[in-house]
Amino acid sequence: MTDKISPAESLPIVILISGYGSNLQAIIDASRSGELPVEIRGVISNRPNAYGLQRAKEAGIPVKIIDHATYLDRPSFDRALQKAIDSFQPSLVILAGFMRILGPDLINRYQGRMMNIHPSLLPAYPGLNTHQRVLDAGEKEHGASVHFVTNELDSGPVIIQARIKITPDDNVRSLSTKVQAVEHHIYPLAIKWFAERRLELTDNKILMDKKPLTAPVEYRVSTLSD
Ligand code: GRF
Repeated sequence: MTDKISPAESLPIVILISGYGSNLQAIIDASRSGELPVEIRGVISNRPNAYGLQRAKEAGIPVKIIDHATYLDRPSFDRALQKAIDSFQPSLVILAGFMRILGPDLINRYQGRMMNIHPSLLPAYPGLNTHQRVLDAGEKEHGASVHFVTNELDSGPVIIQARIKITPDDNVRSLSTKVQAVEHHIYPLAIKWFAERRLELTDNKILMDKKPLTAPVEYRVSTLSD
């Protein structure tokens, strides 16, 4: 990256996780190396035992646990989550392996300011168990997508996708490894574009550099240093 944004211009973000947190780690690493102009103000997990919480603590990032199991219903969980997010005053909310469906109030509140990463080439294979479903369907390629979050599950406008080839010896484990490897590139990249004010969501459409993005950006290895 040539023109790095100074720390004073860092974008405040909050990252929501439920588990291992390898995408969280990729974002922490990219931010530490100076490639990604963000200030990770907090990490929120709905699971008290999420390994990602360790990663956040090791990086000195404040954490909050909003355990869905302790709330009576979805609206009360969503309200607590919103309070936790807002306490960090983020400009962007990052879902990184966050495994709860969010209600419309929460999604509307952060419309255009909330991203998710999904392990498939959206709009193909929204939902769970994508690697198994892709194998069952005999697909030749697979991948990952970063998208803005809207009220339809895994269906918001896609910012960037990375493709991987499926080989005959692939299984769920190998696909998961391959897909996660590319996720760790495309998520920091999408966040970087947002931090640089190159991305905007208007009327459910993405503008990139003020022009409509007619198809998701296709990730190439060289894109990282663009
Ligand atoms: C990723 O594969 C992501 O696409 C999906 O959940 C997984 C999270 O992995 N939404 P991690 O917790 O970031 O390691």
